[in-house]
Amino acid sequence: MKRYAELAPSQRTIMTPGPVEVDPRVLRALSYPILGQFDPEFTSYMNDTMEMLRALFQTSNQWAFPIDGTSRSGIEAVLTSLIEPGDKVLIPIYGRFGNLLYEIAERCGAEVTSIEKEWGTVFTPEEVISAIHREKPALVLMVHGETSTGRIQPLAEIGKACRELGILFVVDAVATIGGVPVRTDEWCIDAVIGGTQKCLSVPSGMAPITYNDIAAKKINARKTIERGLRTLLDSNTDDIINRPPVIRSNYFDLSQLQDYWSSARLNHHTEMTSMLYALREGLRLVLDEGLDERFTRHRLHESALVAGLEAMGLTLYGDPSCKLPVVTCINIPDGIDGESVRNMLLNSFGIEIASSFGSLKGKIWRIGTMGYSCRQTNVLQLLGALEAVLIRHGASIHTGTGLQAALDVYEQK
Ligand SMILES: Cc1ncc(COP(=O)(O)O)c(C=O)c1O
Repeated sequence: MKRYAELAPSQRTIMTPGPVEVDPRVLRALSYPILGQFDPEFTSYMNDTMEMLRALFQTSNQWAFPIDGTSRSGIEAVLTSLIEPGDKVLIPIYGRFGNLLYEIAERCGAEVTSIEKEWGTVFTPEEVISAIHREKPALVLMVHGETSTGRIQPLAEIGKACRELGILFVVDAVATIGGVPVRTDEWCIDAVIGGTQKCLSVPSGMAPITYNDIAAKKINARKTIERGLRTLLDSNTDDIINRPPVIRSNYFDLSQLQDYWSSARLNHHTEMTSMLYALREGLRLVLDEGLDERFTRHRLHESALVAGLEAMGLTLYGDPSCKLPVVTCINIPDGIDGESVRNMLLNSFGIEIASSFGSLKGKIWRIGTMGYSCRQTNVLQLLGALEAVLIRHGASIHTGTGLQAALDVYEQK
């Protein structure tokens, strides 16, 4: 029988837009003993997690909890639970992940309309608001930070317009949560989906979400009680019990997940014990650092990285006025094989940066400065290694200047 070597993953410096390096304290949390899912000690960790998620999302929403699965599981849970077949949905798209919202909304039976913006830019609020007036959707879905193009979409005015018109506003903040402000209540966002593996620096595998009472009202109007649990219910639920399920997924049914995360603790799935520990520890680290301090840290390392890249003579991709602070996209210099550069960074220096999707494939590299990966040593190592690798590839760059420019930023901080 074939024998397999003991698992021994290499130590990497991960400078991609996710997944990123995980704080050792989070890794330690993943190794703690398993508790039963209804053990009061475990349910108290669930409650702590909900409380900390409210702070992270800057919301007073009752509902803030993780969906078990990667970030798109959070998107599927929110859209499957909120969209009724035939609902008109507007999706302004400015990159790959807007297309993901489109696909999932379509699968939910929505009548989807999109407006599209050239990659590398974002929408003005007026462009989206005029499409809202024209299309009169029941929901507007948008990405806050597009990792595919490294852009950030301003949301406050769009949220306000949606609220005034009674339209639900749903936001994918997978890339921004924990690295850039996401003001759920202030920006009138009805439901937000975050990601663990990016600025929270927790492994991939959970998707924190939050939604307000307006969204909960729509979800509860579609509520289904799982057949096997109907006898456990106490009161006034006849109408719900006799109703056939209208939310098409059991796993992603937020009306059932609510009953699991609330004090009712009605059994649903078996909670991912170790991931919950990891998320709780990750959130604790975020709140200990302080949200504002964390956002400032992300800005500082972005500035040092950008200063270093530009001093080397590299140019950045996209409209600088809407650059996503946690993702920096670089135009691959003419004549340089982008994949060969990435391979050498990984194989000779243990540093990973990302390639890109669709029409940008082979044209840009994407560098993440997210969570625990977003630190001075990583930025400096990357700049030094990139310079060496580019020289090796015959690129015409300014040598000896990149690291100095980044060090200047750190000295001035
Ligand atoms: C903005 C955005 N939304 C959604 C996703 C999907 O996340 P996941 O791969 O965790 O399902 C990603 C992943 O990179 C993303 O960057």
